[in-house]
Amino acid sequence: MQSLAALSCIICILFVSTLTLASSAKLKVGFYKSTCPLAETIVRKAVNKAVSRNPGIAAGLIRMHFHDCFVRGCEASVLLESTPANTAVERDHPANNPSLRGFEVIDEAKAQIEATCPQTVSCADILAFAARDSSYKVGGINYAVPAGRRDGRVSVSDEATQNLPPPSFSAEQIAVAFARKGLSVDEMVTLSGAHTLGVSHCSSFSNRLYSFNETHAQDPAMDPSFAAFLKTKCPPPRNGARDPIVALESVTPSVLDNKYYKELTKHRGLLSSDQALMDSPLTSKIVLKNAWNGASWGAKYAKAMVHMGSLDVLTGTQGEIRRRCSVVN
Ligand code: HEM
Ligand SMILES: *[C@@H]1O[C@H](CO)[C@@H](O)[C@H](O)[C@H]1NC(C)=O
Repeated sequence: MQSLAALSCIICILFVSTLTLASSAKLKVGFYKSTCPLAETIVRKAVNKAVSRNPGIAAGLIRMHFHDCFVRGCEASVLLESTPANTAVERDHPANNPSLRGFEVIDEAKAQIEATCPQTVSCADILAFAARDSSYKVGGINYAVPAGRRDGRVSVSDEATQNLPPPSFSAEQIAVAFARKGLSVDEMVTLSGAHTLGVSHCSSFSNRLYSFNETHAQDPAMDPSFAAFLKTKCPPPRNGARDPIVALESVTPSVLDNKYYKELTKHRGLLSSDQALMDSPLTSKIVLKNAWNGASWGAKYAKAMVHMGSLDVLTGTQGEIRRRCSVVN
């Protein structure tokens, strides 16, 4: 009874914050049609080339867009490198460095675009296009990306801590983090499906294998045979030990599909925050629905990516169009 009351309280907080924070973006599909008609083609080619060589880059670019949008909005702050004047940028936050990948693809696309249309196409838009093109290349999920974002001039490492949910979060805590951005519980669970791609370092989940809590060394929410497999990949953490990587979803790790949800139903979620979505009454029904109906999940994913891509954007004369994505003008 008490937990039911707690849950409905969380739901009402989520509902109210989703209403009040709904963003009113002024982005437009085909924004560069007359000013730089080849922009989207150039990005798609650069992504296709890079992902053909290394499918993991698709995971990297989708995650990069998420990490951009959740910190100060989708304004490419995640791409800024540290300078003598600012040594604590988002890009060097532990959530991004060393695991975030694909920067060279953005730089390559930007260099080609600058050669034809100088200072016209923002890095934030290039990243939004690249996340879409990655989704299409490894999942066949295509969608139109409203554009017209401009690039920010500020990057603060602490803001990554405040805005990016860590893998230790409960489903309720993640839902609150997403609601603060105006994203619904369904969108949160749907976007988490991106964890069907790519990898995680052992350090992001090894507490589940070796030091869960006082009574359980191993997380009882994890399938014991999956835990045994993971222990062969991840040694017990020691100071200075290597930190290997493991696929977030090991059945089809390079395909953007709904197997992530199927694995969660088998207690084979890698991160604690993944398994929590199956095990919380707030989110379990959405996990089951996404596990059963891959087509409906794919359609929701496309919509939710567009919504996430509109968070706190800079438009019009705000911000700037960077010449190089890693430095402000
Ligand atoms: C819901 C809360 C989320 C949490 C707690 C979370 C946490 C994490 C963590 C800990 C990793 C592994 C990092 C490492 O150790 O190397 C990871 C990887 C990844 N995340 Fe998330 N994430 C969340 C949501 C999302 C969303 C919304 C997306 C995209 C829509 C996303 C896309 C990815 C991808 C694709 C990877 C693999 C990256 C690669 O292989 O390079 N995540 N995430
Ligand atoms: C340890 O985790 C289990 C499973 O989640 C839980 O039932 C138990 O209460 C926890 N014990 C402590 C001491 O926190």
